[in-house]
Amino acid sequence: MENITGKRALVTGGAKGLGKAIAVALAKEGVHVAITGRNEIALKQTAAELTALGTEVTYAVFDVSDNEAVQQGIKNLNETFGNFDILVNNAGISSFASVMEMDVQDWTAIINVNLMGTYFVTKAVLPQLIEKNQGDIIMVSSTAGLNGAATTSAYSASKFGVIGFADSLMREVRKNNIRVCTLTPSTIASDMSIDLGLTDGDPEKVLQPEDFAELVIANLKLPKRAMLKSASLWSTNP
Ligand SMILES: NC(=O)c1ccc[n+]([C@@H]2O[C@H](COP(=O)([O-])OP(=O)(O)OC[C@H]3O[C@@H](n4cnc5c(N)ncnc54)[C@H](OP(=O)(O)O)[C@@H]3O)[C@@H](O)[C@H]2O)c1
Repeated sequence: MENITGKRALVTGGAKGLGKAIAVALAKEGVHVAITGRNEIALKQTAAELTALGTEVTYAVFDVSDNEAVQQGIKNLNETFGNFDILVNNAGISSFASVMEMDVQDWTAIINVNLMGTYFVTKAVLPQLIEKNQGDIIMVSSTAGLNGAATTSAYSASKFGVIGFADSLMREVRKNNIRVCTLTPSTIASDMSIDLGLTDGDPEKVLQPEDFAELVIANLKLPKRAMLKSASLWSTNP
């Protein structure tokens, strides 16, 4: 098993939900963590909780769909916190409606955050991983990125897009010892899934963010010569 203690990770959307659980799990492994998002109050609160776990923690406020803000935000983090070994592209939004019902702005926003945001952040972090000749990039897609459903056209298009981006990137950078892994979870209890009415969050029935974080950590601990290309996580008793 790889030892990840002392590595530096960037978790987008790390203040709550899946991203927060991943940040907590990383901090418990002794990984230094930077979390990002748009809500500074939530970031500050989560950063304080992470710091109490005894690792180095910072946060940055930027919208992943704004490329200029992303490039500047990552540059600032590199100057104040250091270069990254691990990138978790987790930030995302969702709303469901039929193609005819959803307006163009909402449809575009989902693509801009989930797909373009993943591309912008990856492009900002990739040079430092290539320079180190090592690194891990984890993409949070969704089972909605494997199959469409009525009312999920924007979300599915964005999450299918993340899989295509990741598959190409993986083939491009594995020669640099950079692993690219795409995770496609089914419903997990979070503000997103509860607000969408997908679950009531009952831990007896639905995956919890901590379950997903365990998969992320297990992936990072694989021997360096091995790469989990993709994995789908489902509840056993929905
Ligand atoms: N929960 C599920 O059932 C489920 C299943 C499959 C996949 N996923 C995926 O898992 C990821 C996390 O979802 P979640 O359930 O944890 O949702 P969540 O609780 O709503 O959290 C979403 C996170 O993304 C950040 N974010 C959203 N838009 C952003 C933007 N434009 N710029 C920067 N940060 C942004 C949010 O921070 P701010 O609000 O501060 O910006 C927040 O931290 C998403 O990619 C989602 O599509 C979730």
